[in-house]
Amino acid sequence: MIGHLLAGSRAVRRTLALGAAAALSTGLAVAGVPRADAAADTLGSAAARTGRYFGTAIDASKLDDPVYTTIAGREFDMVTPENGMTIDATEPRQGQFVFTNADRIVDWAAQNGKRVRGHTLLWHSQQPQWLVNLSGGALRQAMLDHVDGVMTHYKGKIYAWDVVNEAFADGTGARRNSNFQRTGDDWIEAAFRAARAADPAAKLCYNDYNIEDWTSAKTQAVYAMVKDFTSRGVPIDCVGFQAHFGSGSPYPDLRTTLRNFAALGVDVQITELDIPSAPAATYAAVVGDCLAVPRCAGVTVWGVRDPDSWRSGDTPLLFDGDGGKKPAYTAVLDALNAAVPSPSPTPGAGCTATLSAGAKWPDRYTLGVTVTGSDDWIVTMTVPRPARIIATWNVRTRWNPATNVLTARPNGHGGSWGVTIKHHGNRTWPTVSCRTA
Ligand code: G3I
Repeated sequence: MIGHLLAGSRAVRRTLALGAAAALSTGLAVAGVPRADAAADTLGSAAARTGRYFGTAIDASKLDDPVYTTIAGREFDMVTPENGMTIDATEPRQGQFVFTNADRIVDWAAQNGKRVRGHTLLWHSQQPQWLVNLSGGALRQAMLDHVDGVMTHYKGKIYAWDVVNEAFADGTGARRNSNFQRTGDDWIEAAFRAARAADPAAKLCYNDYNIEDWTSAKTQAVYAMVKDFTSRGVPIDCVGFQAHFGSGSPYPDLRTTLRNFAALGVDVQITELDIPSAPAATYAAVVGDCLAVPRCAGVTVWGVRDPDSWRSGDTPLLFDGDGGKKPAYTAVLDALNAAVPSPSPTPGAGCTATLSAGAKWPDRYTLGVTVTGSDDWIVTMTVPRPARIIATWNVRTRWNPATNVLTARPNGHGGSWGVTIKHHGNRTWPTVSCRTA
């Protein structure tokens, strides 16, 4: 597992402390001073003010622990199954799918108004023996069948899938030598095409560790692959940066990395954050880097309390063994609350759509939308399920119930319009993006 830690020698340009301080001073308002307008008191609600999510890994075996579910239910609005969706769990025998643990997590998420990141469809680790025994065309077909089988079961229920996990080697720009890789270099794009066909509404992510530092060969190799995919129309929507940081390692220039990937036209996400001893400044720096990049959709920490962590001896998480909030928790919450309370536009898109809170009722709420920068705009609003839009005003709209996406254009009332959202228990604000027509 040491390979999952940032190599200390790699591209040391800033110390951890300096990097954290820089991130805080450039990306945010005054950290530690919540804004009076809408400071929130949980991680999920604070992130939602900025149009982002804040998530955690969830292990099905812990859903019977009331301390665990209380914290997870209160603080997070996105969940990632930590082990429940790996290949050995979901297809232990070829063609026989088992969704017991994964369903427990997905059902718990739905009952508690949270979205789900699917983790993971194709990974060299956690493979059942039948898959390890295959090769060539039979393995390629089994791989595609696995993508189809799992995604079909969860069709419409998953916000984003880690379609392929950790396919690049450490230290070089080479692909990892895995059984999947030995079926041919095109296995990753074949997987993404199969994934898009199986559930067109899910975002499709490539997820990896040690790709946070822009100057590393591994980061550059993943970037080249994503650039190639987007230029050739291979379906990819997001890149996950695991962010399993090492102890005492220099803080990487994560913001530059996130910006450069986002400029390719994909979302970026922090997907498995944990840091030994949970230094508050570094946690805040990671959040600050995400907040500074409009296409950074959210942050997920890899577990709830320290003893829940895969590296529990490092005490790397936001809650201690008693469920108490650690200093890093407060730093993260303050960083989120100090951010501008609205989603940011896609850079270079030519217009900006900003959300503002309107009226609230027990079952619904309204949001005002202000569009600036263009008179001829198209705004896309993605509503987190199970919430849905039930009314709009001063705007021409098309509502796609399959994707829960509203497409809006001007109808002669200028750039001020609004929506009414029936939340069905999920009060997370929609995300919006604006482009000129
Ligand atoms: O469930 C069995 C249990 O029945 C058995 O008695 C026990 C004995 O070892 O093992 C249990 O399974 C363990 C599982 O975690 C659940 O606790 C596996 O051995 C153990 O290998 C597995 O570790 C997981 C690891 O991935 C390997 O799959 C960690 O929980 C999980 O946090 C970690 O997560 C990965 C991400 O998926 C990908 N990125 C890196 C990250 C950290 O390695």
